[in-house]
Amino acid sequence: MTNGSKRQWWQDGVVYQIYPRSFQDSNGDGVGDLPGIESRLDHLLALGVDAVWISPFYPSPMADFGYDVADYCGVDPIFGTIADFDSLIAAVHAHGLKLILDFVPNHTSDRHPWFLESCTSRDNPKRDWYLWRDAKPDGGYPNNWMSNFGGPGWTWDETTGQFYYHSFLRQQPDLNWHNPEVRNAIYAAMRFWLDKGVDGFRMDVLWLLIKDAAFRDNLPNPEWTPGASSFWSVLPTYTADQPETRQIVREMRQILDAYAERVLIGEIYLPLPELVRYYGDSLDGAQMPFNFHLIQTEWAAGPIAALIHEYEALLPPGAWPNWVIGNHDQPRIASRIGPAEARVAAMLLLTLRGTPTIYYGEEIGMTNGNIAPDQVQDPAEKNQPGISMGRDPERTPMLWDNSPHAGFTAGAPWLPVNPAYERASVAAQAAQERSMLALYRRLIALRRSHPALHAGELLDVRAKRGVLSYSRALGSERFQILLNLTTELQTANCGHGHIVLTTIMDGEGARVGGPIAIEASEGLLIALD
Ligand code: NOJ
Repeated sequence: MTNGSKRQWWQDGVVYQIYPRSFQDSNGDGVGDLPGIESRLDHLLALGVDAVWISPFYPSPMADFGYDVADYCGVDPIFGTIADFDSLIAAVHAHGLKLILDFVPNHTSDRHPWFLESCTSRDNPKRDWYLWRDAKPDGGYPNNWMSNFGGPGWTWDETTGQFYYHSFLRQQPDLNWHNPEVRNAIYAAMRFWLDKGVDGFRMDVLWLLIKDAAFRDNLPNPEWTPGASSFWSVLPTYTADQPETRQIVREMRQILDAYAERVLIGEIYLPLPELVRYYGDSLDGAQMPFNFHLIQTEWAAGPIAALIHEYEALLPPGAWPNWVIGNHDQPRIASRIGPAEARVAAMLLLTLRGTPTIYYGEEIGMTNGNIAPDQVQDPAEKNQPGISMGRDPERTPMLWDNSPHAGFTAGAPWLPVNPAYERASVAAQAAQERSMLALYRRLIALRRSHPALHAGELLDVRAKRGVLSYSRALGSERFQILLNLTTELQTANCGHGHIVLTTIMDGEGARVGGPIAIEASEGLLIALD
């Protein structure tokens, strides 16, 4: 726990991520928007989540679909207006939900007025707001830093005769976080939204903010093979996780702490020992450095038990854990491990110790969409075709009902709607007693109503014969969770009690104790006596 002993809403609650282009379109342009989100709050209430995180909706040329921000304090017309935002936040709060914004501090759009100014001359006051360098004497790139989306991270500017650095697209120049003016400008933008009442931020690529001030070459990556993304041809030695980043995270946290009950979440893809440092030496960093390791770990009981042990052991005293099984950059869980195991993943996510974040569509078991070559939208795919960088499959429109385009839009959807929506939609699943949606609603309701499940200790984490098991306990309340991560029936041992829920959604109330048979890809939640 942080802040003394009082528990915070973001510890007990469940976070739900919305990719706004794909959630609900309200005006028939084929792209989701803020009024669309507001019109679907009932779904979030019925699901039982506590907080909504919305991926960027700021004015943007959409080179990276909103992660290229041209104005930190506005709303892109495609998503609506500031008045729509005000209406949305009022509705979210009126329903007792929280609103978390996605904030993109590492880079702006190349159309942002700051960058346009920075490009005008070498002595412009905003020149040093970005990372400008001379070419090497032979005209080559200043160093070997690469772009995450493929190719060199440097782009030449003809007017001023220098290169600028971009961790992502050339349309996303990196800000110079060594410059205090940059920090203050970003902090002012954070305050703009905090003053409007937003409850926190999910900070984009928090571990990449600061780059080596001496612009040293990254070290070669001995494991890289041609054909893999060129980004990994070098290690991010001087472009990621630099020690100075943690001071920035502290400063961001101070901005939030000047307001009541706000949360700082960091997007950080790092090994666990480095990840947990982002909590800060005195828990004065991010309250939740995102833990993506369930996405990256082999889906098997042994490795997942080891992951849970390692993470719990590394957490600084008082730090609060969190877990994620998908987001807008990762293949969907139901495609990765299959529909039955996705139900087990739901039970895992919602019974582990730590805040769960659900990615829209997970609650209906959405799978990756099939994107034909002429439908590709994602620049990560367009830049390096055929090496599986594309993120369109996990960004297809939400499936609401069996009207045209699954109720997502009255127009032509920006990405294809998954064809099987008649059975898979929210409306269809709401009518089925044992649907994925029914399972998610049940799991979230149980998590909310039982302190052992949202605030209890995590005990006895084990893997045996492909079954992952653990307990949650608080006071006299104790649950055991048994998850069969194999495709065969397994026998495991359980404590004495009764079945509260199974992922197959039958057998509830049955007394158990001692050896128990668990179906292939089945999870059990047992209340112990
Ligand atoms: C991380 C975001 O999650 C991803 O979608 C985006 O492309 C990059 N940051 C660049 O902003």
